[in-house]
Amino acid sequence: MQPPTCVDHLGIAVYSLERARTLYREVLGLVCGGTEEIADQKVRVTWFQAGNLRIELLEPTAEDSPIARFLDKNGPGLHHVAYRVADLPATLAALKSAGVRLIDDAPRAGAHGMRIAFAHPKSTGGVLTEFCQQG
Ligand code: CO
Repeated sequence: MQPPTCVDHLGIAVYSLERARTLYREVLGLVCGGTEEIADQKVRVTWFQAGNLRIELLEPTAEDSPIARFLDKNGPGLHHVAYRVADLPATLAALKSAGVRLIDDAPRAGAHGMRIAFAHPKSTGGVLTEFCQQG
């Protein structure tokens, strides 16, 4: 497959965006790029730019949010690694034919107007892995 062009962002699960912002903004001094709610994922996202890499903080907006389930199981921490790709449908097809288990068989809408899809951590060494394409 065509390799990803870069790591686009890291997703970090937090109980509270408000409390987590203190570390990223006040202590690390990173600039907050904005906040967006992804209704179908029941998650609110705030992101910080660290050079070319975005740090995305993910806060659940409902008890049955995937992030709420992650927090129940693991507590706050690294949730996923997202690779940017040029052709998401082609990447998904290549992953599938390599035997990688996909959570999303087809691209769906993510934050920043990106199209995204997740691969299952059981197929990716225990790391929930997102692939995203701009536009
Ligand atoms: Co993500």
